[in-house]
Amino acid sequence: MNVILDIARFEPTSDAKPHRESYEVRVEPTDRVLDALMHIWRHHDGTLAFRKSCAHGVCGSDAMRINGKEALACKTLIRDVAERDGDVIVLDPLRHLPVQRDLMVDQTSFLEKFRQSQPFLKPKEKPPKQGEYHQSAEERALIDDATKCINCGACYSACPVLDEKPDFLGPAALVAAARFIFDSRDEGLEARLSVVDQPMGVWSCDNHFECTKVCPRGIKITKLINLTKRAITKHKDQMV
Ligand code: SF4
Ligand code: FES
Repeated sequence: MNVILDIARFEPTSDAKPHRESYEVRVEPTDRVLDALMHIWRHHDGTLAFRKSCAHGVCGSDAMRINGKEALACKTLIRDVAERDGDVIVLDPLRHLPVQRDLMVDQTSFLEKFRQSQPFLKPKEKPPKQGEYHQSAEERALIDDATKCINCGACYSACPVLDEKPDFLGPAALVAAARFIFDSRDEGLEARLSVVDQPMGVWSCDNHFECTKVCPRGIKITKLINLTKRAITKHKDQMV
């Protein structure tokens, strides 16, 4: 079948404003959107800019909006977004981040918020003299979902709170915080209270669930944010 890829184009150093370009590509329904993009880049227009690395849903670099919904181009099959010959697939860069060029966004502020959440182990005790930090299977299960994040930014783009509050830490950074807050080996919540217990931390989340809907790793992001809210409230009650 043939599909038309309608792609947002913008080169900030030379274009006054974004425009769109369309490319007709011969594809199989089981090809991925990334395959179609690679075909355009190789055979039609080598100036088209987009990120990709692993091509297998692991690195998170090819998140974009496909027909208005955040997704990884390497995990989206043509048949999932186009049914018939001649169908149009609309591609746009992620929202809430400045466009660097075409489908590439500048991730600086996204990654800075991620860093603010202190996504690294702060051990609450010294390691045993022999061996490693121990953790039971039940304790590991508490952080299992949050460990799956690949930092793709899809949730950050889909979050409606960021439309109104650009300083909101955002879903991905809060997932990263939860990853360690609920880790039995880590100092946990107290070490990250100054980040998450803020108006622009968990309390800005209004439970829209848009992040959860688009996460390519199926992480229950909104649930993790709500668990963090509950942990903060419990922590404060214990302090009284
Ligand atoms: S939580 Fe999901 S959508 Fe958000 S950055 Fe991580 S993998 Fe991507
Ligand atoms: S290219 Fe790595 S996740 Fe798609």
